[in-house]
Amino acid sequence: MRKYIVMFIAALCLASVAYAADSQIWGEMRIQNILGYGQEESWKLGPLFTMLQHKYFAWIFLGVLIGVPAAFFIHYKIIGPKVFPHSEKKYYAFNLYNRIIHQVAAVSFLVIIPTGFIIIFGDFFGGGTFVRMAKNLHGIFTIPFTIVVIPMALMWLKEALFNMDDVKWFMILGGYLSKEKKPILAGKFNAGQKMWYWVAILGGITMILSGAFMYFLDFKMQMLHNLTGMSQIDLLRAAAIIHNVMGFAVLALFITHVYMSMFAIKGAVHSIITGYVEEEELKILHSTWYKKLKDQGKF
Ligand code: HEM
Repeated sequence: MRKYIVMFIAALCLASVAYAADSQIWGEMRIQNILGYGQEESWKLGPLFTMLQHKYFAWIFLGVLIGVPAAFFIHYKIIGPKVFPHSEKKYYAFNLYNRIIHQVAAVSFLVIIPTGFIIIFGDFFGGGTFVRMAKNLHGIFTIPFTIVVIPMALMWLKEALFNMDDVKWFMILGGYLSKEKKPILAGKFNAGQKMWYWVAILGGITMILSGAFMYFLDFKMQMLHNLTGMSQIDLLRAAAIIHNVMGFAVLALFITHVYMSMFAIKGAVHSIITGYVEEEELKILHSTWYKKLKDQGKF
Protein backbone atom coordinates (compact mmCIF):
# COMPACT_ATOMS: atom_id res chain seq x y z
CA MET A 1 0.00 0.00 0.00
CA ARG A 2 2.75 2.41 1.06
CA LYS A 3 4.53 1.71 -2.24
CA TYR A 4 1.46 2.85 -4.21
CA ILE A 5 1.09 6.01 -2.14
CA VAL A 6 4.75 6.93 -2.75
CA MET A 7 4.35 6.19 -6.47
CA PHE A 8 1.19 8.30 -6.61
CA ILE A 9 2.89 11.27 -4.93
CA ALA A 10 5.94 10.92 -7.19
CA ALA A 11 3.68 10.89 -10.27
CA LEU A 12 1.88 14.02 -9.05
CA CYS A 13 5.23 15.78 -8.50
CA LEU A 14 6.46 14.91 -11.98
CA ALA A 15 3.17 15.98 -13.55
CA SER A 16 3.32 19.29 -11.70
CA VAL A 17 6.90 19.96 -12.77
CA ALA A 18 5.95 19.15 -16.37
CA TYR A 19 2.94 21.45 -16.16
CA ALA A 20 4.91 24.28 -14.59
CA ALA A 21 7.71 23.97 -17.15
CA ASP A 22 5.22 24.15 -19.99
CA SER A 23 3.03 26.95 -18.67
CA GLN A 24 3.20 30.43 -20.14
CA ILE A 25 2.19 31.82 -16.76
CA TRP A 26 5.40 30.57 -15.19
CA GLY A 27 7.54 30.77 -18.29
CA GLU A 28 9.19 33.60 -20.13
CA MET A 29 5.85 35.30 -20.74
CA ARG A 30 5.51 36.02 -17.04
CA ILE A 31 6.93 39.56 -16.98
CA GLN A 32 5.07 40.45 -20.15
CA ASN A 33 1.85 39.16 -18.60
CA ILE A 34 2.34 41.17 -15.43
CA LEU A 35 2.65 44.36 -17.50
CA GLY A 36 -0.88 43.74 -18.68
CA TYR A 37 -2.36 43.39 -15.19
CA GLY A 38 -3.51 46.99 -15.05
CA GLN A 39 -0.94 49.27 -13.51
CA GLU A 40 -3.38 51.98 -12.53
CA GLU A 41 -3.40 50.61 -8.95
CA SER A 42 -7.15 50.90 -8.46
CA TRP A 43 -7.01 50.41 -4.69
CA LYS A 44 -3.34 51.29 -4.34
CA LEU A 45 -2.68 48.09 -2.42
CA GLY A 46 0.94 48.04 -3.58
CA PRO A 47 2.60 49.78 -0.60
CA LEU A 48 0.39 47.95 1.93
CA PHE A 49 1.09 44.58 0.35
CA THR A 50 4.84 45.23 0.13
CA MET A 51 4.99 46.36 3.77
CA LEU A 52 3.01 43.34 5.06
CA GLN A 53 4.91 40.92 2.89
CA HIS A 54 8.35 42.23 3.82
CA LYS A 55 7.87 43.02 7.48
CA TYR A 56 5.07 40.99 9.00
CA PHE A 57 3.72 37.85 7.30
CA ALA A 58 6.70 35.53 7.73
CA TRP A 59 7.26 36.60 11.35
CA ILE A 60 3.61 36.14 12.28
CA PHE A 61 3.61 32.66 10.72
CA LEU A 62 6.76 31.80 12.64
CA GLY A 63 5.17 33.22 15.83
CA VAL A 64 2.08 31.01 15.39
CA LEU A 65 4.21 27.96 14.55
CA ILE A 66 6.28 28.34 17.70
CA GLY A 67 3.87 30.18 20.05
CA VAL A 68 0.82 27.90 19.78
CA PRO A 69 2.70 24.61 20.41
CA ALA A 70 4.67 26.34 23.22
CA ALA A 71 1.40 27.29 24.95
CA PHE A 72 0.16 23.71 24.58
CA PHE A 73 3.45 22.34 25.87
CA ILE A 74 2.93 24.40 29.04
CA HIS A 75 -0.69 23.18 29.22
CA TYR A 76 0.48 19.58 28.88
CA LYS A 77 3.10 20.00 31.60
CA ILE A 78 0.85 21.86 34.08
CA ILE A 79 -2.66 20.47 33.50
CA GLY A 80 -1.77 17.30 31.63
CA PRO A 81 -3.83 15.22 29.23
CA LYS A 82 -7.30 13.81 29.80
CA VAL A 83 -6.95 10.04 29.86
CA PHE A 84 -9.95 7.77 29.33
CA PRO A 85 -9.94 3.98 29.58
CA HIS A 86 -9.74 2.32 26.19
CA SER A 87 -10.97 -1.05 27.39
CA GLU A 88 -14.60 -0.18 28.10
CA LYS A 89 -17.67 0.32 25.94
CA LYS A 90 -17.29 2.32 22.75
CA TYR A 91 -19.74 4.09 20.48
CA TYR A 92 -19.48 3.95 16.68
CA ALA A 93 -19.51 7.68 15.97
CA PHE A 94 -17.82 8.09 12.57
CA ASN A 95 -18.78 5.88 9.63
CA LEU A 96 -16.40 4.91 6.83
CA TYR A 97 -17.53 7.83 4.65
CA ASN A 98 -16.86 10.34 7.48
CA ARG A 99 -13.46 8.80 8.08
CA ILE A 100 -12.33 8.77 4.45
CA ILE A 101 -13.41 12.38 3.90
CA HIS A 102 -11.63 13.43 7.09
CA GLN A 103 -8.48 11.45 6.32
CA VAL A 104 -8.21 13.02 2.86
CA ALA A 105 -8.47 16.48 4.48
CA ALA A 106 -5.88 15.50 7.11
CA VAL A 107 -3.36 14.17 4.57
CA SER A 108 -3.87 17.24 2.36
CA PHE A 109 -3.12 19.57 5.27
CA LEU A 110 -0.09 17.57 6.33
CA VAL A 111 1.40 18.43 2.93
CA ILE A 112 -0.13 21.90 2.44
CA ILE A 113 1.16 23.31 5.75
CA PRO A 114 4.86 22.33 5.64
CA THR A 115 5.10 23.24 1.93
CA GLY A 116 3.42 26.57 2.76
CA PHE A 117 6.23 27.23 5.20
CA ILE A 118 8.86 26.35 2.62
CA ILE A 119 7.24 28.91 0.29
CA ILE A 120 7.13 31.61 3.00
CA PHE A 121 10.78 31.00 3.88
CA GLY A 122 11.80 30.40 0.28
CA ASP A 123 14.82 32.73 0.63
CA PHE A 124 16.03 30.82 3.66
CA PHE A 125 15.80 27.56 1.70
CA GLY A 126 17.78 29.09 -1.13
CA GLY A 127 14.92 29.13 -3.68
CA GLY A 128 15.34 26.93 -6.76
CA THR A 129 13.98 23.48 -7.45
CA PHE A 130 13.25 22.60 -3.81
CA VAL A 131 11.03 25.64 -3.24
CA ARG A 132 9.42 25.27 -6.68
CA MET A 133 8.63 21.64 -5.87
CA ALA A 134 7.09 22.75 -2.55
CA LYS A 135 4.98 25.30 -4.41
CA ASN A 136 3.75 22.62 -6.81
CA LEU A 137 2.96 20.17 -4.02
CA HIS A 138 1.16 22.97 -2.14
CA GLY A 139 -1.07 23.44 -5.17
CA ILE A 140 -1.51 19.73 -5.95
CA PHE A 141 -2.55 18.76 -2.42
CA THR A 142 -5.12 21.55 -2.48
CA ILE A 143 -7.00 19.44 -5.05
CA PRO A 144 -7.95 16.57 -2.66
CA PHE A 145 -8.90 19.13 0.00
CA THR A 146 -11.05 20.98 -2.55
CA ILE A 147 -12.80 17.69 -3.39
CA VAL A 148 -13.64 16.88 0.25
CA VAL A 149 -14.33 20.31 1.72
CA ILE A 150 -18.01 20.49 0.65
CA PRO A 151 -18.82 16.85 1.61
CA MET A 152 -17.15 17.53 4.98
CA ALA A 153 -19.13 20.74 5.42
CA LEU A 154 -22.38 18.89 4.71
CA MET A 155 -21.73 15.75 6.76
CA TRP A 156 -21.07 17.72 9.98
CA LEU A 157 -23.15 20.86 9.42
CA LYS A 158 -25.95 19.90 11.82
CA GLU A 159 -23.56 19.09 14.64
CA ALA A 160 -21.57 22.27 14.05
CA LEU A 161 -24.40 24.76 14.64
CA PHE A 162 -23.85 26.71 17.87
CA ASN A 163 -26.33 26.44 20.77
CA MET A 164 -26.62 27.34 24.46
CA ASP A 165 -24.28 24.52 25.55
CA ASP A 166 -21.52 26.37 23.73
CA VAL A 167 -21.89 29.53 25.83
CA LYS A 168 -21.39 27.43 28.97
CA TRP A 169 -18.51 25.56 27.33
CA PHE A 170 -16.73 28.83 26.54
CA MET A 171 -17.24 30.10 30.11
CA ILE A 172 -15.16 27.20 31.47
CA LEU A 173 -13.01 26.81 28.35
CA GLY A 174 -14.29 23.28 27.96
CA GLY A 175 -12.83 22.24 31.32
CA TYR A 176 -9.37 22.07 29.74
CA LEU A 177 -7.89 24.33 32.43
CA SER A 178 -8.77 21.80 35.12
CA LYS A 179 -7.45 18.33 35.87
CA GLU A 180 -10.89 17.26 37.10
CA LYS A 181 -13.07 14.94 35.02
CA LYS A 182 -16.45 16.68 35.44
CA PRO A 183 -19.16 16.21 32.74
CA ILE A 184 -19.06 19.11 30.27
CA LEU A 185 -22.16 20.22 28.38
CA ALA A 186 -21.64 19.47 24.69
CA GLY A 187 -23.28 17.60 21.85
CA LYS A 188 -21.39 15.48 19.31
CA PHE A 189 -19.07 18.48 18.85
CA ASN A 190 -18.17 20.94 21.59
CA ALA A 191 -17.80 24.70 21.01
CA GLY A 192 -14.06 24.39 20.33
CA GLN A 193 -14.63 21.70 17.73
CA LYS A 194 -17.39 23.77 16.15
CA MET A 195 -15.04 26.72 15.93
CA TRP A 196 -12.49 24.52 14.13
CA TYR A 197 -15.24 23.25 11.81
CA TRP A 198 -16.11 26.80 10.69
CA VAL A 199 -12.49 27.88 10.34
CA ALA A 200 -11.61 24.67 8.46
CA ILE A 201 -14.59 24.96 6.10
CA LEU A 202 -15.01 28.70 5.52
CA GLY A 203 -11.31 29.41 6.06
CA GLY A 204 -10.43 26.42 3.88
CA ILE A 205 -12.64 27.64 1.02
CA THR A 206 -11.17 31.15 1.34
CA MET A 207 -7.67 29.65 1.18
CA ILE A 208 -8.61 27.65 -1.94
CA LEU A 209 -10.06 30.66 -3.76
CA SER A 210 -7.34 33.15 -2.81
CA GLY A 211 -4.69 30.50 -3.53
CA ALA A 212 -6.19 29.71 -6.94
CA PHE A 213 -6.12 33.38 -7.75
CA MET A 214 -2.40 33.54 -7.07
CA TYR A 215 -1.67 30.22 -8.79
CA PHE A 216 -3.49 31.12 -12.00
CA LEU A 217 -2.04 34.61 -12.20
CA ASP A 218 -3.66 35.41 -15.52
CA PHE A 219 -7.09 34.17 -14.60
CA LYS A 220 -9.41 37.10 -15.23
CA MET A 221 -12.22 37.53 -12.73
CA GLN A 222 -14.32 39.95 -14.75
CA MET A 223 -17.20 39.82 -12.28
CA LEU A 224 -14.97 40.69 -9.34
CA HIS A 225 -13.29 43.39 -11.37
CA ASN A 226 -16.65 44.93 -12.29
CA LEU A 227 -17.90 44.66 -8.73
CA THR A 228 -14.86 46.19 -7.03
CA GLY A 229 -13.25 48.19 -9.81
CA MET A 230 -9.93 46.62 -8.82
CA SER A 231 -7.20 46.05 -11.37
CA GLN A 232 -5.78 42.54 -11.83
CA ILE A 233 -2.62 43.43 -9.92
CA ASP A 234 -4.61 44.75 -6.95
CA LEU A 235 -6.88 41.67 -7.00
CA LEU A 236 -3.74 39.54 -6.80
CA ARG A 237 -2.37 41.60 -3.91
CA ALA A 238 -5.71 41.35 -2.08
CA ALA A 239 -5.69 37.57 -2.65
CA ALA A 240 -2.18 37.34 -1.20
CA ILE A 241 -3.13 39.40 1.87
CA ILE A 242 -6.29 37.34 2.47
CA HIS A 243 -4.39 34.06 1.94
CA ASN A 244 -1.81 35.03 4.56
CA VAL A 245 -4.20 36.46 7.17
CA MET A 246 -6.63 33.53 6.89
CA GLY A 247 -3.59 31.26 6.92
CA PHE A 248 -2.69 32.48 10.45
CA ALA A 249 -6.12 31.41 11.76
CA VAL A 250 -6.20 28.08 9.90
CA LEU A 251 -2.66 27.23 11.07
CA ALA A 252 -3.34 28.17 14.72
CA LEU A 253 -6.55 26.12 14.85
CA PHE A 254 -5.05 23.21 12.94
CA ILE A 255 -2.23 22.95 15.51
CA THR A 256 -4.86 23.17 18.26
CA HIS A 257 -6.94 20.42 16.59
CA VAL A 258 -3.95 18.10 16.31
CA TYR A 259 -2.89 18.82 19.91
CA MET A 260 -6.40 18.08 21.18
CA SER A 261 -6.85 14.87 19.24
CA MET A 262 -3.34 13.49 19.68
CA PHE A 263 -2.13 14.75 23.07
CA ALA A 264 -4.71 16.55 25.24
CA ILE A 265 -7.31 13.78 24.95
CA LYS A 266 -5.18 10.67 24.94
CA GLY A 267 -6.10 8.30 22.13
CA ALA A 268 -8.88 10.50 20.67
CA VAL A 269 -7.21 10.18 17.28
CA HIS A 270 -8.34 6.52 17.13
CA SER A 271 -11.93 7.70 16.66
CA ILE A 272 -11.17 9.06 13.23
CA ILE A 273 -9.29 5.88 12.25
CA THR A 274 -11.64 3.21 13.63
CA GLY A 275 -14.82 5.25 14.05
CA TYR A 276 -15.24 4.36 17.74
CA VAL A 277 -15.28 6.80 20.69
CA GLU A 278 -14.82 5.66 24.31
CA GLU A 279 -17.89 5.72 26.53
CA GLU A 280 -16.20 7.69 29.33
CA GLU A 281 -14.90 10.26 26.84
CA LEU A 282 -18.48 10.86 25.70
CA LYS A 283 -19.80 10.90 29.26
CA ILE A 284 -17.31 13.60 30.32
CA LEU A 285 -16.57 15.68 27.23
CA HIS A 286 -19.90 15.40 25.35
CA SER A 287 -22.39 14.93 28.18
CA THR A 288 -25.46 16.28 26.33
CA TRP A 289 -24.87 13.86 23.46
CA TYR A 290 -24.17 11.00 25.88
CA LYS A 291 -27.48 11.60 27.64
CA LYS A 292 -29.28 11.55 24.30
CA LEU A 293 -27.60 8.30 23.27
CA LYS A 294 -28.46 6.74 26.64
CA ASP A 295 -32.10 7.76 26.24
CA GLN A 296 -32.05 6.06 22.84
CA GLY A 297 -30.72 2.90 24.50
CA LYS A 298 -27.38 3.03 22.70
CA PHE A 299 -25.50 2.49 26.01
C1 HEM B 1 -3.25 15.15 11.37
C2 HEM B 1 -4.36 15.75 11.17
C3 HEM B 1 -5.64 15.53 11.89
C4 HEM B 1 -5.95 14.78 13.00
C5 HEM B 1 -5.01 13.94 13.83
C6 HEM B 1 -7.36 14.94 13.25
C7 HEM B 1 -8.08 14.31 14.25
C8 HEM B 1 -9.45 14.41 14.46
C9 HEM B 1 -10.23 13.69 15.44
C10 HEM B 1 -9.70 12.68 16.43
C11 HEM B 1 -11.52 14.08 15.34
C12 HEM B 1 -12.72 13.59 16.15
C13 HEM B 1 -12.81 14.43 17.36
C14 HEM B 1 -13.91 14.08 18.31
O1 HEM B 1 -15.04 13.92 17.89
O2 HEM B 1 -13.63 14.05 19.52
C15 HEM B 1 -11.57 15.08 14.31
C16 HEM B 1 -12.68 15.77 13.94
C17 HEM B 1 -12.70 16.78 13.03
N1 HEM B 1 -11.68 17.12 12.18
FE1 HEM B 1 -9.80 16.44 12.25
N2 HEM B 1 -7.88 15.78 12.32
C18 HEM B 1 -6.86 16.17 11.48
C19 HEM B 1 -6.95 17.00 10.39
C20 HEM B 1 -8.08 17.70 10.06
C21 HEM B 1 -8.18 18.61 8.94
C22 HEM B 1 -7.08 18.94 7.98
C23 HEM B 1 -9.43 19.09 8.95
C24 HEM B 1 -10.06 20.10 8.02
C25 HEM B 1 -9.44 20.91 7.29
C26 HEM B 1 -10.13 18.52 10.07
C27 HEM B 1 -11.42 18.79 10.41
C28 HEM B 1 -12.11 18.18 11.41
C29 HEM B 1 -13.43 18.55 11.81
C30 HEM B 1 -14.22 19.71 11.20
C31 HEM B 1 -13.80 17.68 12.82
C32 HEM B 1 -15.11 17.68 13.58
C33 HEM B 1 -15.02 18.66 14.72
C34 HEM B 1 -13.84 18.41 15.60
O3 HEM B 1 -13.73 17.33 16.16
O4 HEM B 1 -13.03 19.34 15.74
N3 HEM B 1 -9.28 17.65 10.71
N4 HEM B 1 -10.30 15.25 13.77
